[in-house]
Amino acid sequence: MKNIFYITILIFIISSCKKDGAVTNPSSVDQTYTPTPYFIQYPFYWSYYPVPIPTNNPLTVEGIALGRKLFYDPILSQNNTMSCATCHNISFGFTDNGKQFSNGLHGEIGKRNAMPIFNLGWYEKYGEINHRFFWDGGVPDIESQVFGPITNPIEMNENLFNVVSKLKSNPEYPSLFKKAFGKDTITSQLLAFAIAQFERTIISYGSKYDKGILSNFANFTQEEKDGMSIYTDIYKGDCWHCHTISSHFFTDFGFHNNGIQQTFSDSGLARITRDPADMGKFKTPSLRNLVFTAPYMHDGRFKTLEEVVEFYNSQAYLGANKDPFITSDKHEAGLNLSDYEKKSLVTFLKTLSDSSFINNPQFSKQ
Ligand code: HEC
Ligand code: HEC
Repeated sequence: MKNIFYITILIFIISSCKKDGAVTNPSSVDQTYTPTPYFIQYPFYWSYYPVPIPTNNPLTVEGIALGRKLFYDPILSQNNTMSCATCHNISFGFTDNGKQFSNGLHGEIGKRNAMPIFNLGWYEKYGEINHRFFWDGGVPDIESQVFGPITNPIEMNENLFNVVSKLKSNPEYPSLFKKAFGKDTITSQLLAFAIAQFERTIISYGSKYDKGILSNFANFTQEEKDGMSIYTDIYKGDCWHCHTISSHFFTDFGFHNNGIQQTFSDSGLARITRDPADMGKFKTPSLRNLVFTAPYMHDGRFKTLEEVVEFYNSQAYLGANKDPFITSDKHEAGLNLSDYEKKSLVTFLKTLSDSSFINNPQFSKQ
């Protein structure tokens, strides 16, 4: 990796933090509050796409450490048995252990596949303003996302009042919150701020593909190169219109009906917007780290990448709201890829997976 130069973004300066930082009432901030600013790192060739950090929740080493501890702590659930990491396991690209659906605290089964957690900050810049997170875009920013799973009866089933009182009576948390936010109190807002800070640091850019960018893909096999051509060829796979390749995120940050036939009452984006034109539209997932995140799609209906490619090749459902890039004239009869073309496309998709990411000690349980 020695030939990668990282750019460093100055997130904030300490003096302004005291004035405008995460703390809602600056007058009550302890004057000895000296958080350490955290400089987020990503490759220089991503610098065209700067990641936003909210001014009211700047990244600090102390805030991130607290968020990481909370992410892995079952104290956030009703019976202290389930943490965020129960369903977002780093070894599976922060998804739920290969499961199609997650189980709630008492074994209840959800109806969506747990999403991976990486490169989330960019959705806040490029995603649709009110629709950035969850398969149906029901959440606008990373901070507000935190409350859903804690209070959802089929997830952690806890109420925020109880969580806060458990944290307050815990031997460690009061001083950790004080170090992170400079206040002698714990609130559900600060809990969400800390977890959001940790989530913003979870960035993945160490795949074979990323190394290929720097070497004109000299590290790719012929089959991987062929697969990349299928991916970008508008008369072949034509995948890049939604899973954008030029921005390195492999998503356009938007919502589309990719031809997945709805099997039960999950209307996708329309559940949130109430607009019939949004029926069956789901968030375009990044295609990074697919090797670790099976099964695939919002309802985890496909177990393998071969099944996904065959779906786009011959089974995309031409129903209402179908996206023009799925059923344009050129794809009316499916993609018609040969066996070798399908195989090489899958081989290319696998180059987007980053084993240094799932083994990164900065993101795992302390
Ligand atoms: C019981 C399993 C479960 C638990 C526990 C859980 N999640 Fe999730 N998470 C999911 C599922 C399922 C989705 C997809 C939800 C949907 O689209 O309706 C999801 C989605 C997300 C997303 C959206 C990602 C994106 O790209 O839009 C984030 C972020 C997230 N979870 C973070 C967390 C955090 C933080 C916690 C702990 C406070 C947590 N989750 C606890 C199952 C879980
Ligand atoms: C019209 C936009 C669009 C095009 C074109 C498109 N996709 Fe998708 N893709 C999506 C959307 C939206 C989803 C999520 C759908 C869902 O969950 O129901 C998705 C899901 C996926 C997934 C599942 C990822 C996961 O984490 O579950 C894979 C893999 C995938 N697409 C690969 C491809 C490939 C390969 C191509 C080209 C053959 C392609 N896509 C073309 C929009 C598109």
